[in-house]
Amino acid sequence: MTSATVRVPAKINLCLGVGPVRPDGFHPLATVYQAVDLHDEVRATFRDDGQITVSVHAQMDAYAESVVVPENDENLAVRAARAVQDFTGVTDGVDLAIRKVIPVAGGMAGGSADAAAALLACNEVWGTRLSRADLDQIAATIGSDVPFLLHGGTAVGGGRGEMVSPVLARGGYHWVFATAVHGLSTASVFAEFDRLTEGQQVRDPEVPDALMAALRAGDADALGDHLSNDLTEAALSLRPELTDTLEIGLEAGALGAILSGSGPTAMFLAEDEQHSLDISIALSSAASCADVIQSRGPVPGARLVG
Ligand code: C5P
Repeated sequence: MTSATVRVPAKINLCLGVGPVRPDGFHPLATVYQAVDLHDEVRATFRDDGQITVSVHAQMDAYAESVVVPENDENLAVRAARAVQDFTGVTDGVDLAIRKVIPVAGGMAGGSADAAAALLACNEVWGTRLSRADLDQIAATIGSDVPFLLHGGTAVGGGRGEMVSPVLARGGYHWVFATAVHGLSTASVFAEFDRLTEGQQVRDPEVPDALMAALRAGDADALGDHLSNDLTEAALSLRPELTDTLEIGLEAGALGAILSGSGPTAMFLAEDEQHSLDISIALSSAASCADVIQSRGPVPGARLVG
C-alpha cells in the first residue's frame, strides 16, 4: 500500500490521581481515560529511501502564537515511525502529513494521538503486521497516553498512564471544552505538582469507587459530581485565570468541571445537546477562553480510514 490515513481521537481524564514522583521522574497515575469526538488525522505515504518527514496542517489556530508543533524529529509522530523502524528493522521511509484539530499543548494528548495514528499508519504502509501487543509495547515507549489512544473508549490507566484496561461504562456523554490562549507543557505542570507537594506525604493514587459506579450506571449527574484531577492546584498555580473559566461553566449549570489532564483546557459535563450549547455560549464570552468546542464521548481509538 502506498498510503494510509488514520483518524485518532483526543482524550480526557475523568479522574487523575497522581502519586509521589518515581525514581525515573514519572509519577504513578490512577486515571480513567475517555476518548472524545475531536480527531486528528495522520496520512502516511510510503517512500523507499528510509527517510521520515512530517508536515502539520492546523485546523484551529488557537495556539498559533504560543505553540508550534515541531515539523522535525521532535514530533511524536516521527518518533513513533522511527520506533517502528527500530522494532521491525524495516528500511523503508514515510512522509507523514498531520491534519490537526486537537488543541496543541492543551492536556488532551494531541501529540500522543498523532503518535498512535502514525504507529498504525506506518504498520499499514510498511506491511509490518505488528500485533496489538507489539503496538502497545512500542506506544508506551513514545508517551504515557499513547497506548490508550490505540484503544479508545473508556479505560483505566495505571503505571505512569501506559497500562490500560477497559472499563464497563454505559451511555454517552456531552462535553464542552474551553481552550486557553497559551498552552501548558505537561512536564512543567508535574514539576509544579512536585514543588507544591514538597515535604508532604503524597499517597498512592486510586480511582474513586463512586466514579466507577457512575460510569457503570451511565449516570451523568453522578459522574459530574465525581470528576477529579490532582493536577488542578499545580495548573491553576501556573495559570490562575483558569479558575474563572471553571467558574463560568459551573455557573452555566455544568454537571461538573475540571481541567483536562495537565490543562489548560477546561472540560464541562452537560446533560444533553441543548445544555452543552448553553454552556458553550456562556463560555464563549469569557476573556480566559480562546475557543469553545462541543464534543461527545466515548468514541473508538485510532482507526484506519483510507
Ligand atoms: O509520557 P509523556 O510524554 O506524556 O510525559 C511528558 C512529561 O510529563 C514527562 O516527561 C514527565 O515530566 C511528565 N509525566 C510525569 N508522570 C506521568 C506522565 C508524565 O511526570 N505519569
